[in-house]
Amino acid sequence: MSHAPRLVILDTDPGVDDALALLYLRARPELTLLAITTVFGNADVETTTRNALYLRQRLGLDVPVYRGAAAPLQGPRGPSPLHVHGENGLGDLDLGDFIAPPVDPGAAHERILEAVRAHPGAVTLVAIGPLTNLALALRAAPDIARQVAEVVIMGGAFGGGNVTPYAEANIHNDPDAAAAVFAADWPITLVPLDATMSCVLSNAAAASLAHTAGDGGRLAHDVSRGYAAAYAEHEGLDGCVLHDVAALAWLVRPDLFEAHEGPVTITLDKERRGQSLRTNAPSNVQTCLAACGQTLAAHFVESLQGSTSR
Ligand code: RIB
Ligand code: CA
Repeated sequence: MSHAPRLVILDTDPGVDDALALLYLRARPELTLLAITTVFGNADVETTTRNALYLRQRLGLDVPVYRGAAAPLQGPRGPSPLHVHGENGLGDLDLGDFIAPPVDPGAAHERILEAVRAHPGAVTLVAIGPLTNLALALRAAPDIARQVAEVVIMGGAFGGGNVTPYAEANIHNDPDAAAAVFAADWPITLVPLDATMSCVLSNAAAASLAHTAGDGGRLAHDVSRGYAAAYAEHEGLDGCVLHDVAALAWLVRPDLFEAHEGPVTITLDKERRGQSLRTNAPSNVQTCLAACGQTLAAHFVESLQGSTSR
C-alpha cells in the first residue's frame, strides 16, 4: 500500500551534511519538500542562506528559501566550525559563478506557521540545525504544536557531545531554544549522535557516487571531501558522518532505528550547558538511541543512484 508523500519543511544550516540531506530528500518519493528555512549554525545565517539558495539551484528544487535566525535566543552566536564545514560552510566547494538570487520574503518562523496552518496536521518539521526558528514559531503561536504532524530533530547526545564533552552542536548552539522545543506538546523524534555516529558514508562509497549518481553524486562527493578529512583527523574515520541524512531517513526507514519513548530536557547552566538528558517514561518524545548505520549509508547511496536523472 503506498502512502501520500509527507510534506516536509527542512530547517537547516547548510552545512555539508545538510547538503547531503537535501540530496537524499530530493531522491525520496516518500518526501515532498514544501520549503527550506535557514538558521545560523555551521556558518552565519547569511552564508547558510546563500548555501541553501545554491543547493536549491544546483538540485533544481522548486521551493522557497526563507531566511531564519541569525543568533540564538540569548547571547551571541558561537564561532563557526570552519575546521568541519570549511570557510564557506560547504566544505569549500567551488560555487563557480553562482550569484545568489534574492531570498524569498518573510521570516522563517512566520512562514513555518503559515505552512502548518495551511496544511493542518500534515506538515513534518525536520530540524537539522539549531532549534531557534522552531522556538520562535512556538513563542509566536504556542497552539502550532497541536497542528504539526511530527517534529524530527537531529541533535543531542546521551553518550558524549561533539562540541563539549556533554553537548552536541545543534543543541549547544541554542540550548534555550532546544529547551523550549522539547517542553512543547508536539510529537518529537530525536535523532542524536548516539544514532548518527554509526551512519558513515565511506570514502569509497562517496567516490563511487561521483560516477554513478549524476550531478547529485558528484556534488555528494565533492562537498564532503574536507568534511571527511576532518572526520579522519578527529575520529579516525575512513568517511564522513551522515548526521542530517539520518533525521530524514527516520521518516523513510524507521526500521533502521531503535527508538525509546521518554522526556528530554536540556541543561542550561555552567559547563554542561546544552547537555541533553532523558528518562524512560510515557512522553510525546521518542529518541533514537541506535541506528543500523551501515544499512542506512547503503540506503543513502542507493537513493542517490536511483535519482540520477534528477
Ligand atoms: O552535530 C551534528 C550537527 O551539527 C549536524 O546537523 C551538522 O550539520 C551540524 O549542524
Ligand atoms: Ca546541520
